[in-house]
Amino acid sequence: MTYYSRVIGTGGYLPEKVLTNEEISKTVDTSDSWIYERTGIKSRHIAGADETASSMAEIAARQAIEMAQIDPETIDLIIVATGTPDRVYPSTGCLLQKRLGVKHAVAFDVQAACSGSIFGLSIADQYIKSGAAKTVLVVGSEVCSRIIDWTDRTTCILFGDGAGAILLTASEQQGILSTHIHSDGEYEELLYCPTSTEQQAGYISMRGNEVFKVAVNTLGRIVDETLEANDLNQSHVDWLVPHQANSRIIAATAKKLKLSMDQVIMTLEDQGNTSSASVLLAFNEGVRDGRIQRGQVVLLEAFGAGFTWGSALIKY
Ligand code: ACO
Repeated sequence: MTYYSRVIGTGGYLPEKVLTNEEISKTVDTSDSWIYERTGIKSRHIAGADETASSMAEIAARQAIEMAQIDPETIDLIIVATGTPDRVYPSTGCLLQKRLGVKHAVAFDVQAACSGSIFGLSIADQYIKSGAAKTVLVVGSEVCSRIIDWTDRTTCILFGDGAGAILLTASEQQGILSTHIHSDGEYEELLYCPTSTEQQAGYISMRGNEVFKVAVNTLGRIVDETLEANDLNQSHVDWLVPHQANSRIIAATAKKLKLSMDQVIMTLEDQGNTSSASVLLAFNEGVRDGRIQRGQVVLLEAFGAGFTWGSALIKY
């Protein structure tokens, strides 16, 4: 018997502190109108000094577990997508495992920048479909604020902190219909963040305009690939849940799908780009506010450093 990966719970966490465009405009040469017109962002959440990727992941994960009403001990696999881990090692997945007290699971991290949670969903789906795991927790959690040069107006306006979680279990009912993931390491120089082991430690460097153009084209192609693989057309998709990097990139993907912006879950305006957390935060919002209903078809997609990109088509 082949099983589907069915969504049984979602969760999300945003730190309490909100940083508005106006506040950023006081420290770098920018304005609320420039940021909003070019990106669609008005504010973002910033983690407190005592918050980490694993502490935020725990809150999002506990919400997903509560929604699913399962015994956490039944989770066999924990996948955390993050580019801002608490430590180089142990993995943030292991730290989350400890926080949740889930003894029997295996836990690890995936690093695919903003596409991380789509890569996580893809791995989870392979484990469930093959029978290697039954119940899988996927979390995207990021403290982007700690890898941002707050004097660089080209990047500091874009990012925010937060965590999103999704819980999947093997089911005879449909769930994840397909995942597609890709990478191309040729684009390293357009978007990267040095590690603390490199001489110039630390901050995101991005040639935004060039990234923008590749992102729009690539996300258009992933839509075609996903629909073709499932023998579906645009009219079968009820919701687009995109990575939240730029409202103009999102609008281009919605147009490609012939979806109105009312069928797109947008969190960008008050969250900014939370990297690997963004798609799962948006999915959680759509589920919890009742827009995404059981039986509907939802297209999740993301694009990020690497470059990496991917999609997950889910029958919720
Ligand atoms: N305020 C005011 N002016 C600014 C700011 C700012 N915050 N930032 C840049 N500018 C200036 C530039 O210096 C430039 O000035 P110039 O014309 O005198 O040289 C001008 O505005 C235009 O700059 P562009 O970079 O061409 O602006 P663009 O319209 O491309 O918007 C942005 C920039 C928002 C970054 C956009 O390119 C973008 O969203 N790119 C894609 C980001 C993305 O998808 N990343 C992938 C995921 S992230 C990850 O994986 C970690």
